Amino acid sequence: MRRRQDAAVPDIVDSIVQGDCMEVMAAMPPACVDMVFADPPYNLQLKRSLYRPNMSMVDAVDDEWDRFESFAAYDTFTRAWLTSVRRVLKPTGTLWVIGTYHNIHRVGVAVQDLGFWLLNDVTWVKTNPMPNFAGVRMCNAQETLIWAAMGEKSGYTFNHHTAKRYAEGKQLRSDWYLPLCTGAERLADGDGKLHSTQKPEALVERTIAVCTRPGDLVLDPFAGSGTTPAVARRMGRRYIGIEREEQYLEAARARVAAAAFDPISGAVDQRDLDRHRRRVSFREIVAAGMLRPGVKLWFGADGRREAVVTDKGMLELDGQALSIHGAGSAITGAPCNGWDHWRYSDRDGNLRRLDDLRAEFEARQAAAEEPTPRERDRRS
Ligand SMILES: C[S@@+](CC[C@H](N)C(=O)[O-])C[C@H]1O[C@@H](n2cnc3c(N)ncnc32)[C@H](O)[C@@H]1O
Repeated sequence: MRRRQDAAVPDIVDSIVQGDCMEVMAAMPPACVDMVFADPPYNLQLKRSLYRPNMSMVDAVDDEWDRFESFAAYDTFTRAWLTSVRRVLKPTGTLWVIGTYHNIHRVGVAVQDLGFWLLNDVTWVKTNPMPNFAGVRMCNAQETLIWAAMGEKSGYTFNHHTAKRYAEGKQLRSDWYLPLCTGAERLADGDGKLHSTQKPEALVERTIAVCTRPGDLVLDPFAGSGTTPAVARRMGRRYIGIEREEQYLEAARARVAAAAFDPISGAVDQRDLDRHRRRVSFREIVAAGMLRPGVKLWFGADGRREAVVTDKGMLELDGQALSIHGAGSAITGAPCNGWDHWRYSDRDGNLRRLDDLRAEFEARQAAAEEPTPRERDRRS
């Protein structure tokens, strides 16, 4: 058996590319990305400068890249980049988009209209939000992250156990209390912040930790100061950042180059890794000749019941052909994982769990998928 074909890897992997994200994505192979983190322009529509009570000017988001003529122009832009994202995401990939009340509702409609399936929306509760200096409305203390799969039935990665790392061992909730990016983490240029909307690394880290595995490819089409590529690299993921504005590129690239691999933040709980391994069916094991039709299996450590393997990869129990799980349930009257409970007799006559046979089958498959020395030579 030959190695399963991995999705083509874009040649811009592990870099920040300068350009319009839609043009850059158009040149990438389809279905090659595992996760997208997108922090698009907010379309804040700021009409005039903001001042604090002491009349110092607020470093607000008034950048040229955040200006759109109208809501319609913003919607057209949103649908265009989301369409490009859909082309490059794998069917099992997931999309994260972050925004504020200014844009996130419009983005959410486009996400659903284009066929994505919402998995959660996360509220980033800012523990140190900027006050509303004019005092004309509430202090805006949150941003929203949309998390979506490619479709309702799409498989996707969710590292349920790993996520607990961010919730003191409990199930991770969808309200994340984190400070704004300030202090040493905030990139500066000569006279202030390098980027008006640099996101905290802790926020991006969670998204990568909960829905990717080491080596997965993470794409950020609006990379700005390079937060997503830097975090992805630190966590041992591959990355592509796209940023149109020249002014951020040098600092963003230097930041990413300085991001050292941290195996702790990049680790995925073994139980999550196990959950995502390809499911082997009992039928495959019979078809591979590892158990012959007609041989007996015993249930439980005491071997209290027997069943016979059929040529269709089922178990015959009390005259019925059942799956290994169904036959276990028929005995216990409760849900049953057949791999754990059925035993087979090995060459030496020892009773061993079916799960051992499954592990042996997987090891044989992995060995068969390894490139031959000749193939390895050809590739190098
Ligand atoms: C909200 S900021 C992202 C900030 C980033 N998350 C960070 O932590 O630094 C949006 C970025 O998208 C860039 N941008 C806007 N339109 C773009 C486009 N069509 N293609 C690529 N980048 C674009 C802007 O220059 C800006 O840096």
